[in-house]
Amino acid sequence: MRIVISIAAMQRQARQWQRAGKRIGFVPTMGYLHAGHMSLVRETRKRVGKAGKVVVSIYVNPTQFGPKEDFSKYPRDLKRDLKLCREAGVDVVFTPSDKEMYPGGTGSRRCESADGPRFDKRGYSTYVIEEKLSQSMEGASRPTHFRGVTTVVAKLFNIVLPDVAVFGAKDWQQAAIIKRMVADLNFPVEIVVAPTLRERDGLAMSSRNKYLEGDLRRQATVLWRAIQAARFAIRKFPVPQHRLKAQLKQLIESEPDAKLDYVEFFNSETLVPVSTVRFQIHMALAVFVGKTRLIDNGRL
Ligand code: PAJ
Repeated sequence: MRIVISIAAMQRQARQWQRAGKRIGFVPTMGYLHAGHMSLVRETRKRVGKAGKVVVSIYVNPTQFGPKEDFSKYPRDLKRDLKLCREAGVDVVFTPSDKEMYPGGTGSRRCESADGPRFDKRGYSTYVIEEKLSQSMEGASRPTHFRGVTTVVAKLFNIVLPDVAVFGAKDWQQAAIIKRMVADLNFPVEIVVAPTLRERDGLAMSSRNKYLEGDLRRQATVLWRAIQAARFAIRKFPVPQHRLKAQLKQLIESEPDAKLDYVEFFNSETLVPVSTVRFQIHMALAVFVGKTRLIDNGRL
């Protein structure tokens, strides 16, 4: 397995594979890999075949974290991640530095000059913004989050040159936005969405689960229990969304350290909210468990 840290070297490798007629499969991640990530790697290998090449990127992308979020303490363990990738038969791990990805820094730092304030010319300044699907849910709670995600994924696609890229259903809205970006900007890549892997008690696997200590780990199962409760609530008749929301808020906040951020019901593909919740409607929620913000979703 090759470890690549420079953009130029990754692009050279990708172009060489392309010339040799190899299909390139790609799994973008922020590392601290778990079984959910590794299931995406297996799906990618299936898609490109034995002769194809599988690239995993490990990069904690600063532009998708808000100023008060957990960027600096996001869990990292590159040594363990590399071991997992090697064992899974990954061909290349691409793990660039912030300086490589955002030369000059990401802040829109203003500097004063004789003719008024200007943005620092050295700073990074081009972003990709999806404007429809990014407004609700994660986009409403984390205003610059998806701008960071679409920007870094667009950059990674231009660096890794994948034929196919695999994303997890765990981040349903993210996957929808990436599909939209790829369609709108004509990236020549097929987007595959693979199912959410869960712990035995239903908690969706996530790098952030590491933050859950003591009883918080048990309380965190309330996201999965809320999805199950919604499925049960609509089993016979459709239910108005506001009624189901109130019911789920009560269920979630019966846990001492859980606070609901949002729960939404919407069309799986368009993400358009529905007024009545029935079979096959998609549900997504975000819940603070202690200080940790967790998300989950599922089709009802
Ligand atoms: P990260 O949270 O590391 O997730 C990387 C990929 O793994 C995403 O596609 C995510 O949906 C998927 N994933 C996470 N948990 C999963 C689970 N339990 N089951 C299946 N898939 C799971 O998502 C990101 O990183 C970043 O936003 C990124 C796309 C890399 C851009 O920086």
